[in-house]
Amino acid sequence: MRAYWDSAARQSAAWYVATGHLAETDEFFRQGAAETDAFLSFCGVQPAKDATVLEVGCGVGRMTRRLAELFGQVVALDVSEEMLQRCRENLAGLPNVAYRLVEGDGTLGGVGEGEVDVVFSYVTFQHVPSAAAQLRYFANCARALRAGGRLAVQIRSSAPSAVVLSFMGNLAHRLQGRRTLDPSWRGSRVKGRAVLEVLRAQGVQATLLTWPHRPRWSPAHCWVAGAKLASHPAGGQPAGT
Ligand SMILES: C[S@@+](CC[C@H](N)C(=O)[O-])C[C@H]1O[C@@H](n2cnc3c(N)ncnc32)[C@H](O)[C@@H]1O
Repeated sequence: MRAYWDSAARQSAAWYVATGHLAETDEFFRQGAAETDAFLSFCGVQPAKDATVLEVGCGVGRMTRRLAELFGQVVALDVSEEMLQRCRENLAGLPNVAYRLVEGDGTLGGVGEGEVDVVFSYVTFQHVPSAAAQLRYFANCARALRAGGRLAVQIRSSAPSAVVLSFMGNLAHRLQGRRTLDPSWRGSRVKGRAVLEVLRAQGVQATLLTWPHRPRWSPAHCWVAGAKLASHPAGGQPAGT
């Protein structure tokens, strides 16, 4: 995963972060900010200046910049050293962002239990090639949430139309020279039911939401939105650490 995303960042970081963009322009960050606002609101997350948000798969900071405006602290993690380095450069001068390089297997680079108020992730889980790693991310993210904290994580939809559309999209991009048939791009699909069970075991009550405003030819985005129950007892070991 790291080799793939490092090489993608060197080839065209903006494109692999948000297809359609070829450079990290003002428009690239404006779109990231608008999407951040829309997805947080869609998932029922209220930003707050005294809250900490964990972003899984920050890329070059397209959305991280907006998260840093909305929240007191941001923990931005990514599997790619190259992406993280660009993120640091793009967000230079923002004192409230901490960067973590992770293995991509679902472990959180030392983020501890109950340390964050919000977990946010967009177009990242859908690229993770192992369903087990995605479920480990969910378990560890749920543990990282404090009681009352909220989760807004986008995953690949398993709807048949989304499966067909994403296959066609990957093929079309490949024909234009992008490495979109690699397992680190294609990712794997996790069953919504399995995700909700893993979260429930860690005290997070969540639901699956379909983003209704997707462009016509784009596969449906499925969001996992939820909150950690205040009464859930702390305990257990982080998954896979
Ligand atoms: C398509 S980009 C999206 C970046 C950002 N979320 C955005 O929308 O601007 C996906 C990012 O996730 C990272 N990534 C891919 N697999 C990952 C994994 N298993 N764990 C953490 N980050 C991962 C990639 O390095 C890349 O920076």
